[in-house]
Amino acid sequence: MKEVKIETTLQVYTDLNELPNDIQNLMQAAIEARENAYAPYSKFNVGAAIWLDNNEVIIGSNQENACYPSGLCAERTAIYYAGAKYPKAKILKMAITASSQNQVTDKPIPPCGSCRQSIAEYEIKQEAPIEIYFMGAKGKVVKSKSLANLLPLLFESSVL
Ligand code: THU
Repeated sequence: MKEVKIETTLQVYTDLNELPNDIQNLMQAAIEARENAYAPYSKFNVGAAIWLDNNEVIIGSNQENACYPSGLCAERTAIYYAGAKYPKAKILKMAITASSQNQVTDKPIPPCGSCRQSIAEYEIKQEAPIEIYFMGAKGKVVKSKSLANLLPLLFESSVL
């Protein structure tokens, strides 16, 4: 038996103001998207904004359904639309923000496992890292220089 240790590195900022203006603007787009989340069941609003290399910004928010599993997370709503509308564009950065309707969300909320797997597909396809920034409604912002840093041991197509 051999034990394998997997490490990752993230950058933690005290708040949005510590980040460059372009990231603040991208996060602002995610905050606006978050306000339009359709989350009557979980009461948990999530917004995502994606910055493409053609300078377009694509937004998404979580869209829930009475049949719970039919709903979709904000990140996948955004990334699948980006893939559908601009299939040749590279995804440079993604900003994510989440806010509970019941309490103050003051800690960074990372993308769920399914969203990480979905974002990873595009990172592999474009052969270039996607920077991920995530926060709650306020407070600290976490940066990951690539999606791969958030998903060790990802499942990828070379095994198929
Ligand atoms: N949600 C997202 O939009 N993104 C995530 O990464 C985690 C969870 C949504 C799904 C659901 O509408 C609500 O948050 C509660 O899980």
